Amino acid sequence: MKKQFLILLLAIFPATLFAAGAGVHLDKAKIDIYDKESIKRGAKTFADYCFSCHSAKFMRFNRIAKDTGMSEEEVREMFIFTRNNKGKETKIGDLMTVSMTEDYAKSAFGGAVPDLSLTARSRGADWLYTYLRTFYADPTRPTGMNNQTFADVGMPHVLWAQQGIRKPVYETEDHDGVEVKVIKSFEMAQAGSMTEEEYNAFVADLVNFMVYVAEPVQTERRDLGVYVLIFLAIFFVFAYLLKKEYWKDVH
Ligand code: HEC
Repeated sequence: MKKQFLILLLAIFPATLFAAGAGVHLDKAKIDIYDKESIKRGAKTFADYCFSCHSAKFMRFNRIAKDTGMSEEEVREMFIFTRNNKGKETKIGDLMTVSMTEDYAKSAFGGAVPDLSLTARSRGADWLYTYLRTFYADPTRPTGMNNQTFADVGMPHVLWAQQGIRKPVYETEDHDGVEVKVIKSFEMAQAGSMTEEEYNAFVADLVNFMVYVAEPVQTERRDLGVYVLIFLAIFFVFAYLLKKEYWKDVH
């Protein structure tokens, strides 16, 4: 019985709820995949600040154009300034790969740079939204930055100019007789170009784009779902009448 209950629980709550692990508080990301303007703004941020290192190799450039209503020319200007990883001219119908090799990434960041096509699904939107807002100064790290959501991350804080640089304020907590230094809050050591609200909105757009990339058909799937339910409701009437007709003679 206990096992069935656990299976039921896992079916109801998506795995991402558990994946975050204990102790990490996640802020709620405001996601609206029907908001094409937000997805476009997110695409621009992704192109400007993420795509130099991260690929989104399950996505094609022209699919973004088709789904967001941008022209192929706009998408080309936004994303394509290099040759692809085979040294050829990148085409608008190509997959969104990057030219950085794994060896280079290893030497520069101590590990491979993960592909971001499906990260919004594996980590969840709230995780991404929190992660991109919780970098803080840490002189012991190679990049000078650490992250509260992803401890000792190899990625530099690429959006520091927008967010600013935050310094942690520590507090000692007593954990069963052992004194542990924990981060209590943050203070701004160097202001960024955006206010906190502006930065939150900027990151929310970026996460919205990543949620779209992780499943480009989700708006179609949802819209189709409504039609399927309408069809089933109408079909139910006929099925019911037919059932009545069959059972008429049995009674
Ligand atoms: C200078 C290269 C570089 C840039 C630019 C960059 N990243 Fe990263 N990113 C990395 C590296 C390296 C890692 C792996 C970190 C590790 O495993 O410690 C990473 C990890 C991540 C992860 C964690 C993935 C996972 O599931 O473990 C996310 C999410 C991410 N980056 C998002 C972004 C976004 C969004 C941007 C643009 C705003 C961006 N990155 C820009 C290098 C970069």
